[in-house]
Amino acid sequence: MTALLSHPERVRLLGLTDPAAIEELRRASFDRTTATVGDTVHYRGLIELSNRCALDCLYCGIRRSNRELVRYGLDRAEAIEAALFCAEAGYGSCVLQAGERRDEAFIAFVADLVAEIRDRSRSDRLPDGLGITLSLGEQSLATYRRWRAAGAHRYLLRIETSNPALFATIHPPEQSFASRLQALDDLRAAGFQVGTGVMIGLPGQTLDDLAADIGFYAERDIDMIGMGPYLHSAGGALPEQAMMARDALLTLALNMIAVTRLSLPDLNIAATTALQALVEDGRERGIRFGANVTMPNATPRRVRPQYQLYDGKPCLDEGSLECRGCLERRVTTAGRRVGWDQWGDSPHARRRR
Ligand code: 5AD
Ligand code: FES
Repeated sequence: MTALLSHPERVRLLGLTDPAAIEELRRASFDRTTATVGDTVHYRGLIELSNRCALDCLYCGIRRSNRELVRYGLDRAEAIEAALFCAEAGYGSCVLQAGERRDEAFIAFVADLVAEIRDRSRSDRLPDGLGITLSLGEQSLATYRRWRAAGAHRYLLRIETSNPALFATIHPPEQSFASRLQALDDLRAAGFQVGTGVMIGLPGQTLDDLAADIGFYAERDIDMIGMGPYLHSAGGALPEQAMMARDALLTLALNMIAVTRLSLPDLNIAATTALQALVEDGRERGIRFGANVTMPNATPRRVRPQYQLYDGKPCLDEGSLECRGCLERRVTTAGRRVGWDQWGDSPHARRRR
């Protein structure tokens, strides 16, 4: 897949700060979104299965060395109940996310869960059952194959940054860029629609890096993108001052969504929760800048406070039903409608089939 904008053009647009110029970029991206993926925004109910994690990413609040955290794992019944809520609420699909673990017990738990959810969520409205996206980190090709066979069909694995030197500054030495690339290859080999993304505003990240990230999405023929601002996390290991000033960060994050859309028009791009952590109407803004997917939280409220990858995560006190309505208002405010009861694969992924 070739990106429609050149690298220097992407750098220029990412750096826009003049409000009139930004509005022109936003408008172009919003219109391109309507033309390529339509005027609906698809929901993916986010189910945060567990905050247990074997990794130690420096930016992340649930990293292994954060000892302050009470660790939890939803049991089978709770996870299935959350997924069936998504199906009944009309979401069309869900995302099962958790910290990274590679033990057989966890792998088998997920495989069983996926099969059970697909089976029990079938209805007249959803003849194929609930769509299932996994976001469970780097796993072996065999594990990816097993989860794909169980019935999951999309997988999110962010590269975090496509600059290997920058990647090395935000991860411990044992977490390698090369193995992340291998995992992205393996996901494709296992037959998943592959989603990736980066954090925007990482300490030391340049506009050139972000423009190259879009080149990376193109080279790897990515189907869907989840990107959000880098936010400080009290449980992480990076200094608070490393976070960009909020206004500049918001501008950059929204510009990045628009420039990605204009470069790769037929992908699904998420308006992520981190945007709403940065500013109250962040997700609406993301949609106005070209996003066409959003992830209402569908995790039982009881454990939501224990799954904080960054500070200021919204929706901690709300129940899943409240997020459903709240987010629908946000989507409508942004000039879109919700694509109820659909898996909502990107046109890019549909063409591959
Ligand atoms: N700020 C923003 N995003 C974060 N993530 C983890 N920690 C942070 C943070 N401090 C994102 C990473 C990861 C995804 C699940 O959450 O990009 O891939
Ligand atoms: Fe959860 Fe608004 S989206 S309360």
